[in-house]
Amino acid sequence: MAEHYGIQTAAGHLTVAAESKEPYAADVLAALHEDAAQVVAKYPQKRSALLPLLHLVQSVDGYVTGRGIDFCADVLDLTTAEVSGVATFYTQYKRHPNGEYTVGICTNTLCAIMGGDQIWDEVSEHLGIGHDETTPDGKVTLERVECNAACDFAPVVMANWEFFDNQTPESTKQLVDDLRAGKDVRPSRGPAKVCTFKQVSRVLAGFHDGLADEGVGAGPASLEGLRLAHERGWTAPDGTAGETATDDQQPEATSDETAAGRHTSTDSGANAPDEAVDDKPATLFDEKNGKADS
Ligand code: FES
Repeated sequence: MAEHYGIQTAAGHLTVAAESKEPYAADVLAALHEDAAQVVAKYPQKRSALLPLLHLVQSVDGYVTGRGIDFCADVLDLTTAEVSGVATFYTQYKRHPNGEYTVGICTNTLCAIMGGDQIWDEVSEHLGIGHDETTPDGKVTLERVECNAACDFAPVVMANWEFFDNQTPESTKQLVDDLRAGKDVRPSRGPAKVCTFKQVSRVLAGFHDGLADEGVGAGPASLEGLRLAHERGWTAPDGTAGETATDDQQPEATSDETAAGRHTSTDSGANAPDEAVDDKPATLFDEKNGKADS
C-alpha cells in the first residue's frame, strides 16, 4: 500500500515504492550527471557530496527514490546501504512522496506553550492528516517540528523552511489553504514567496536561485538585544585581554550562595565533586578541604 512506502516498520524494514526504482529517462539522467559533477567538484573527497546529491535527487523526484539511491551510490562509489543509511537519518530527506509544500509546525516547549500545540491540533484536523502525511491533492505534507530555530517569534510555522512568525491556528489554516489553492504565499521574512519543495531542494543541492538575500533576515525580536546594547552603550568584553579570568573578574558570591556551598574562584574547593558542595554548609566543606572561606 502506497501510504506505507518509506515508513520504517518496528523491525526496521523500509519499503520503497516499486516505481521509485524505475530507471531515469536518458535526458534526465544526463542532466543529473551534469549537475552531480558540479557538486562533486566542490569537495576534496567525492563521498562528501552525498548530502547535496540527495537534495539533488529530491529536486527531480520529489523524494529520495530507489533510483536516486542507486544514482548517488554509483556517482560517489558508495554502497546503496551507505547511501540509505544517510537518507534515513536526516528528516529533510523523504523516503516517500512528499507534498509540494512541507509545512512544519513547531511543538517544542516554547512554541507549544505559546500556542503551537493548539495550532497543530487544529491544522491537523483541518487537513485531515497527521505527522509526515500528505493531503490527497499532493500539496501539503504536515510535520511536527522540534524547533524551527526561530524561537523569538513563537509560535513558529515553516513552509519549505521559510518562516511564518507569531502564528495562530487561523493564520496557519489560511496558510495551508492558500498553498493548496496555488496562491503565492509570502513568508514573514526572507524571499517574497515560498518556493516548491523541488525548487528548494535544488537550492539545498547548491544551485542558487538568487533569492538568498531577498527580504528581511532578522526580525525586530531577534535584534532587540542589539538595540538595547546600542542604546545603553554596552560593548562585548575584549576577548584578547587574557585567557584566564582573574579573581576580580569573577562574580562575587552572594551570602545566600556561600551558605549553599557555592564558592568563588579563590576557593580551591570550587572544583571539588558535587557531593562535597550540595546541601552542605560552607563551613563543613571548608573543613574537609582544610581551607577557610574568605
Ligand atoms: S521552540 Fe519553536 S522555534 Fe524554537
